[in-house]
Amino acid sequence: YIEVTAPILGKDDSIVGVLLVSAPTDSVLDSLEILRNKADVVALASILVILMIAVLSGMAMLKPFKRITESISAVTEGYDDDYLHENTYTETMELSEAFNKMSGRMKTLDDSRNEFVSNVSHELKTPLTSMKVLADSLLLQEDAPVELYKEFMGDMSEEIERENKIINDLLSLVKMDKTANTMNIKSENMNELIEKILKRLRPIAATRNIELVYESFRPVTAEVDEMKISLAISNLVENAIKYNKENGWVHVSLNADHKNCYIEVADSGIGIPAEAQEHIFERFYRVDKSHSREIGGTGLGLAIARSAVVMHRGAIKVFSQPSEGTTFTVRIPLNYVS
Ligand SMILES: Nc1ncnc2c1ncn2[C@@H]1O[C@H](COP(=O)(O)OP(=O)(O)O)[C@@H](O)[C@H]1O
Ligand SMILES: [Mg+2]
Repeated sequence: YIEVTAPILGKDDSIVGVLLVSAPTDSVLDSLEILRNKADVVALASILVILMIAVLSGMAMLKPFKRITESISAVTEGYDDDYLHENTYTETMELSEAFNKMSGRMKTLDDSRNEFVSNVSHELKTPLTSMKVLADSLLLQEDAPVELYKEFMGDMSEEIERENKIINDLLSLVKMDKTANTMNIKSENMNELIEKILKRLRPIAATRNIELVYESFRPVTAEVDEMKISLAISNLVENAIKYNKENGWVHVSLNADHKNCYIEVADSGIGIPAEAQEHIFERFYRVDKSHSREIGGTGLGLAIARSAVVMHRGAIKVFSQPSEGTTFTVRIPLNYVS
C-alpha cells in the first residue's frame, strides 16, 4: 500500500484534523509487469530484425570478394585474358587493379621464359645441325679424300667448341639468377681485380695488334662478389677486343667518388647502330648474326654482365657511334646493400 498523511489546517493555522489516504499498489505493479513483458518482446523482435539485416547485408557486401577469390583461384589453372573488374567498392576496385597488374606481370614472365627456352633450344640446335650436315656429306661420299675428312673434322671440332661455349654461358647466366640472394660479398681491391682480367685478355688483343690500355684514377676498394663482377668486366673487355678493328685500341678506366665506383670500357671498334643499342643486353641478341657467328659469340655476354651489375644495385650504360667505337660505363656502389 501507499499511505499518505496530510494535516488539515484551521483558520488560525491550527491543525483541525488529519487526512489519511491509503491506496493498494497491486494495480501499479500489474501495469509494470505488463509493460516489462511488452518491452522484452519488442527487444527480441528488434534483435532478430537487426541480425537478419546484418546477415543479409554482410552476404551482399562479401559477394564481390567472393568473385575476386574465384578469379584468383582460376589463375592457378592457367592464365586468363579475363581481367578482374570489381568496381562495387573502392577497395575491390583497388584490389582488382593490383591483381590485374600482378597477373599481367606473371604473364610477361611466363612469356619471357617460353621465349628463353625456345631461344636456347634453337641456339643449341644450330651447331648440332651443322655437325650433322658435315657428317652426312662425308658419309655420302665414297672414298672421300683424307684432306676432306680433315677439313670437315676441323669444322666439326669448331662446332663442338661453339656448343660448349653456349652451354658454359648459359650455365653462368643461370647461376646468376639462382644465387641472387647468396652473393659472396667481400671487400675487393678493384684495381687488382681489373688488372688480373686485362692480363688474361692481353694475349688475345695482341693477336690483332689491339692496344689494351688501363688507366686508374685512384685506388678503389668496393664490396663486390669478385666472381660475378669479374665476369661482367671481362665480357665487356672481350667484346671491345672482338668487335674492334685491326690495330685498334681498348681503353679501360677505373674511378670512384664517395659512393660509387665507375668502370669504363671504350673501344675504337665497329660500333653499335642506335636501334640495336636497346637490345644488346637481351639474351641471345646479336647485332649482325652472320658476322657475330664468324667472330664467335653466343649473345649472352652482355646479359650476364647486366645481371651481375644489377645484382650489385649498379647500372650499366652504352654509348656508341657506328664505325667509330663503343663505350660501356658501369657504376657499382662501393658499399653493398642487400
Ligand atoms: N664493344 C662492342 N662493339 C660493337 N658491338 C658490340 C660491342 N659489344 C657488344 N656488341 C654487340 O652486342 C652483341 C651482344 O653482345 P654479347 O651479349 O656479348 O654477345 P656476343 O656473344 O655476340 O659477344 C654482340 O653480338 C655485338 O653485336
Ligand atoms: Mg660477348
